[in-house]
Amino acid sequence: MRPLLCCLGLTMLLGSCLACPTACSCSLKKNGRLLAECAYKDLQEVPQGLSSNVTILTLSANRISRLGQGSFAEVPEVQSLWLGYNQIGLVEPGAFASLVHLKNLDLSHNKISAFPWQDLRNLSGLQILKLNNNRLGGLPRDAFPSLKDLRSLWLNDNELTTLAEGTFDSLPSLSQLQLFNNPFNCSCKVFWLKKWTENTSVSITKGGSTLCAAPGRLKGRAVTDIPDHHCVAPSAQLTYLSNPGNAVPYDGLTLSLHCSVAGSPPPEIRWKIHTSASRRRLEISGPNVARDGNGKQSPERFLVFKNGTMAIPKFSKEDEGIYTCLAVNDVGSREVSVNVALAGSENPAEDWLRDEPQASHLGGGSCSKGDEMDPSGAGEKLVIVYHMPKGSKSRAGGAVPQLRLGTLLLALGVAVCW
Ligand SMILES: *[C@@H]1O[C@H](CO)[C@@H](O)[C@H](O)[C@H]1NC(C)=O
Ligand SMILES: *[C@@H]1O[C@H](CO)[C@@H](O)[C@H](O)[C@H]1NC(C)=O
Ligand SMILES: *[C@@H]1O[C@H](CO)[C@@H](O)[C@H](O)[C@H]1NC(C)=O
Ligand SMILES: *[C@@H]1O[C@H](CO)[C@@H](O)[C@H](O)[C@H]1NC(C)=O
Ligand SMILES: *[C@@H]1O[C@H](CO)[C@@H](O)[C@H](O)[C@H]1NC(C)=O
Repeated sequence: MRPLLCCLGLTMLLGSCLACPTACSCSLKKNGRLLAECAYKDLQEVPQGLSSNVTILTLSANRISRLGQGSFAEVPEVQSLWLGYNQIGLVEPGAFASLVHLKNLDLSHNKISAFPWQDLRNLSGLQILKLNNNRLGGLPRDAFPSLKDLRSLWLNDNELTTLAEGTFDSLPSLSQLQLFNNPFNCSCKVFWLKKWTENTSVSITKGGSTLCAAPGRLKGRAVTDIPDHHCVAPSAQLTYLSNPGNAVPYDGLTLSLHCSVAGSPPPEIRWKIHTSASRRRLEISGPNVARDGNGKQSPERFLVFKNGTMAIPKFSKEDEGIYTCLAVNDVGSREVSVNVALAGSENPAEDWLRDEPQASHLGGGSCSKGDEMDPSGAGEKLVIVYHMPKGSKSRAGGAVPQLRLGTLLLALGVAVCW
């Protein structure tokens, strides 16, 4: 009692020491914390006139419908903020950003459909976050920045249909995660959640099962029960064949790269081209030639077919560079690259063709990619050796005319897979 009285005395002098709005009752706890208790008071907004020393603020079961940027400006020291069972539909960005001492934040049983996730960046001491029983339809991939102390996260009873892989990765202390009663679409986009729960101490089954609401065949099944064979990460294999042009003898070299992919659902194929000389970067996200399309009529330099083949007619020095095939499905992505270079040869007799009768039709090899992405993006090195008839050298200045005259002998694949 003494400190309270003492403080009341101070209030007269300092004005704001134990200031307490009429709707609330404020008390100093044994540990020196100041509690402002304003629950069950029919409040329509956060009351004004709170002491700046308030560390626990209880506003549960009122009729608050919005939280403004300055709603908690008076209580910068607050550590526990209880706002459950209100009618909060709007939370302005910045409403929580200045509450850097916050450890417990309860916003459960409200009507929140959009939450200012960026505010969490400032709440580095947050331990408990309850957002259950709201209307959240989705979470951004980086909703939870490195909240190193967050151990309890309640997101059950919302409208979440999916979650981006890695959503909880930056929460090293997480031990309780509630996700049940959300209408999850158990496409392979949430398959990671199954794998994640298999390999983490975090339990998502406490309090109820996290069930699939779609697709029909998985409805009612637990998210952690999606059959493994439904969702297989892509694998990709790149093979190349250089066509010496038997049909079109002097039309130069057509380089064909074929990307064969596997996975479930069937991966989409994208190509990335990074030419060395012109440093051009190009991304082709889908086929640009119809299945039976005739390359000759296409305006495209790089012909991408639906079957996973890319053809580059009249492949020249300028087209040298890194060719990457990217296979993407809901489970993940894989890329495999080949670094294509041209090299001239004046002496066909010394070439490798002799021992490899098939080499004039199909040279090279293939390279498949394991789990790791190749950080350099360089991939396998493919050197195309072509023959340039003697005498043409002095005349032909650049590589393009050389190619036109030359006969392709061999596409030599040097496997540098990693
Ligand atoms: C409130 O905070 C001020 C400044 O930190 C301090 O001087 C005062 O004693 C505190 N009052 C209580 C009741 O803790
Ligand atoms: C959030 O934290 C940053 C850095 O700690 C700070 O500069 C910024 O003012 C804080 N935001 C608010 C609204 O207090
Ligand atoms: C579920 O997700 C898949 C893949 O993203 C999508 O094609 C499908 O339309 C979604 N189904 C529902 C019911 O939202
Ligand atoms: C499980 O976690 C460990 C350590 O974090 C990791 O080495 C392992 O690859 C993970 N396994 C799977 C299947 O993700
Ligand atoms: C893919 O389709 C193109 C155009 O029809 C064809 O030229 C190419 O040989 C096909 N590739 C494979 C590996 O079947």
